[in-house]
Amino acid sequence: MKTFLIAALLALSVSTLKVQAEDHPIPRLIQKDGRFALLVDGAPYLILGAQANNSSDWPATLPKVWSAIEFLHANTLEIPIYWEQFEPQQGTFDYTAMDTILAQAREHQVHLVLLWFGTWKNGSQHYMPEWMKLQPERYFHVLNKEGEAIDSPSPFATASLDADIHAFTEFMRHLKAVDPDRTVLMVQVENESGTWGAVRDYSPAAQKVFAGPVPANVLAAMNKVPTTPSTNWQDVFGTEAEVCFHAWAVATYVGKVAAAGKAVYALPLYANAALRDPFKGAPGSYESGGPTDNVLNIWKAAAPAIDILAPDIYLSDTAAYLKVLQLYHRPDNALFVPETSSSPKIARFFFFALGLQAIGYSPFGLDYTRSHAEPAGQADTQNNFLLPTAQNYRLVAPMMRDIALLNFEGKLQAVAEQEGEVTQTLHFEAWDAIVSYGAVRNGTAKGNPEPIGRALVAQLKDNQFLVTGFFSRVDFHPTDAKKHRQFLRVEEGTYENGTFKFARILNGDQTDWGLNFSSEPEVLRVSIATY
Ligand code: DGJ
Repeated sequence: MKTFLIAALLALSVSTLKVQAEDHPIPRLIQKDGRFALLVDGAPYLILGAQANNSSDWPATLPKVWSAIEFLHANTLEIPIYWEQFEPQQGTFDYTAMDTILAQAREHQVHLVLLWFGTWKNGSQHYMPEWMKLQPERYFHVLNKEGEAIDSPSPFATASLDADIHAFTEFMRHLKAVDPDRTVLMVQVENESGTWGAVRDYSPAAQKVFAGPVPANVLAAMNKVPTTPSTNWQDVFGTEAEVCFHAWAVATYVGKVAAAGKAVYALPLYANAALRDPFKGAPGSYESGGPTDNVLNIWKAAAPAIDILAPDIYLSDTAAYLKVLQLYHRPDNALFVPETSSSPKIARFFFFALGLQAIGYSPFGLDYTRSHAEPAGQADTQNNFLLPTAQNYRLVAPMMRDIALLNFEGKLQAVAEQEGEVTQTLHFEAWDAIVSYGAVRNGTAKGNPEPIGRALVAQLKDNQFLVTGFFSRVDFHPTDAKKHRQFLRVEEGTYENGTFKFARILNGDQTDWGLNFSSEPEVLRVSIATY
């Protein structure tokens, strides 16, 4: 009888596991015609993320995080797990931080992107456990040109690599065991890996490899056909040799850590970059070694287990911001912005990212810990720092599944206001959507006093569009210049739990000069015809 009961219970738990696996398959990235979708529970998902102030996030700070996430209407929290906390003694693992974060995320019905703060955090090894920091000869640092150890871990330190592989594998193994619900959607491997203060490692181990041949897969990835018999790094890459070499060394290391973790749990993995200026990023002016735009091909070749190379964008210049989004939106790379600033002028770039089929977007430091230094008396005790992101997410959160699907199908376009450009045109087969900024009634567009406008247009049927935005006007012109546009039906509504709920038909003053959006979240379903 007892044996029968145990067998029955076992059968039950195996079938429960099967149901869970079917209900919640492992999130994965898919690609079609150069467009990507992150599948969560089997359907495209848009990460409306917020990253906590990530340097000192312990379970004790979580109450100050969840209240902000709720205010934002974010669906995903990005939060780190620190190696020093996870493996306080070599080989002894502490799962409490991970388990606490997971349990609280489920309570708050929020997904997670976990950030593995392993060997690198902002180019340094500050989150390595104490037992490693106390053995700098074994877990050695980058040596600069003068032969001095600097505040950055060497990608040639095999003991560090082995230790990171061991810890990250355990991290992924535990995550797989405790997360059948797939609360965690993706994992970031390291944080802004690379080196500040030297363009590469000059340790004896590194010097030897630098003098050797460039691996064939790197030559192919960078489209280099050597013109001399020598294929060493200097001869092949010239002035870019040192940054290419360091990128290859760091990517190879991070790629091995990622591959080991993925072998136990195949979640999508990404690596984030401290950027270089996309227009004038000379070697030495940026963190060397990470997945900056000039070495994306090297990272792709050396770290194939990393699914996405992702830019942390703290640029405020519109052209530079847009350029970065374009550089990371590639047929072999889904666009994902894991960190960016959250000021009112930057918030509009969320729409640029949507227009480039981003699978997710996540401003940094959106919690009430406000841990970075604020000038005395200027601490933002209100929610002002959250408002720009909250405005975007309140609009998009209820329809994020539709947005992700429309984007995957190539039916969505979105733009943000650019200084000096008062109109923008989005091309759909028989229709152009004209977006303009700062127009009042039938007056001409003058631009908003600050460039904060944004708009999104998605084609639902040949002559039907979903239109939304902030501080902008959208109108449609037939591409056949002999014809004119007439509105058949402009439905105003709201999205509730993924479904458009009709509220009223707009006409007259609300449509005679185009479709107008101000500060309130407003969604229109627009049917048009020609005459
Ligand atoms: C970028 C880093 O990735 C984060 O960990 C954090 O230090 C932010 N910068 C602070 O702005």
